[in-house]
Amino acid sequence: MSAGGEKKGTACVTGGSGYIASALIKMLLEKGYAVKTTVRNTDDIEKNSHLKDLQALGSLEVFRADLDEQGSFDEAVAGCDYAFLVAAPVNIHTKNPEKELIEPAVKGTLNVLRSCVKAGTVRRVVLTSSAAAVSSRPLQGDGHVLDEDSWSDVEYLTANKSAIWGYPVSKVLLEKEACRFAQEHGLSLVTVCPVVTVGAAPATKAHTSVPSCLSLLSGDQAAFAVLDGIERATGCIPLVHIDDLCRAEVFVAEEDAAVGRYICCSLNTTIAELARFLADKYRSTASGDRLEKPRVFLSSAKLVREGFEFKYKTLEHIYDDMVEYGKGLGILPSHADAPLPLPPVDGDESEHENHVAAE
Ligand SMILES: NC(=O)c1ccc[n+]([C@@H]2O[C@H](COP(=O)([O-])OP(=O)(O)OC[C@H]3O[C@@H](n4cnc5c(N)ncnc54)[C@H](OP(=O)(O)O)[C@@H]3O)[C@@H](O)[C@H]2O)c1
Repeated sequence: MSAGGEKKGTACVTGGSGYIASALIKMLLEKGYAVKTTVRNTDDIEKNSHLKDLQALGSLEVFRADLDEQGSFDEAVAGCDYAFLVAAPVNIHTKNPEKELIEPAVKGTLNVLRSCVKAGTVRRVVLTSSAAAVSSRPLQGDGHVLDEDSWSDVEYLTANKSAIWGYPVSKVLLEKEACRFAQEHGLSLVTVCPVVTVGAAPATKAHTSVPSCLSLLSGDQAAFAVLDGIERATGCIPLVHIDDLCRAEVFVAEEDAAVGRYICCSLNTTIAELARFLADKYRSTASGDRLEKPRVFLSSAKLVREGFEFKYKTLEHIYDDMVEYGKGLGILPSHADAPLPLPPVDGDESEHENHVAAE
């Protein structure tokens, strides 16, 4: 039951050990949904501890499932009204993207969709893709707006094989295969393409966007390199708060009329703007010559036109709970309110060739 007493259905969320899935599970439970989630290793008590805590909010069952195993998701999806496909390989630095990222991402997505068909109860599948499936393409001049008609350029990415090219390719291919499969089997599938996602979540580990977005404060160069790669690939740093992303996922699940892809982005910024914002707030210094303003804008006009409202629209709001979360995760030292060194923010705008977005 929801807080208002309204009876909600049952939702499966794949990848409950992950950052985004943990927040989505929390939101669904708070809204009154019964939730079934999957993790690869049910014995990993540390990684899954937040799921135990979330069980206090409502009906939450945890199943073991692996994207690589046929039929693995059958039990978790059985009887569900909604399926949120969030789990996916995110090992962007793998040496063998074809075998370890692209192939398992596509096969794994189809594997969960087969379980949805078998269940016969799923009214809506919400696939979490990525803006990496939208924006990793040669820049087309300043001020270009990318909407849901834009696809990352698989041919270009595969030919150039620049850093972490496999991730956007995996997302384009899994989206297209999922659409084809859903049409063939009469599944109602909607895709959300989140941009770089920030904000606190129940998960007690975060390996993707959170360390990257905190890298200007933590000094973690490897995490910063991912942020840098996104700016170079996309022409901007597109951001969304995790609360808005989860609300958007639930919105497109509940809206019967929702159809196709939805970019989920509330703000397009740059590393330079981010560095200045953090420097002001945390009294650190930023240096270097970088892209001043976004060259490209990812647009969530479709989502907004259909009635969704973003709550977190400024850097101030989007970053509000990040520092505390980063301290809790051990990404930032617990005295992070003291001045912290920002890594050098150098780079040359003329070098903004097309690398690969990893959001
Ligand atoms: N964070 C962002 O900014 C962002 C932006 C756009 C899109 N996304 C997409 O959102 C989804 C979640 O991302 P996240 O940031 O929350 O990453 P995350 O915390 O690393 O979560 C990824 C999840 O996928 C699971 N997984 C990976 N390979 C699997 C396999 N073979 N079988 C079963 N589960 C598997 C992981 O399980 P283990 O814990 O067992 O590894 C984990 O639960 C991904 O599809 C990602 O591409 C993220």
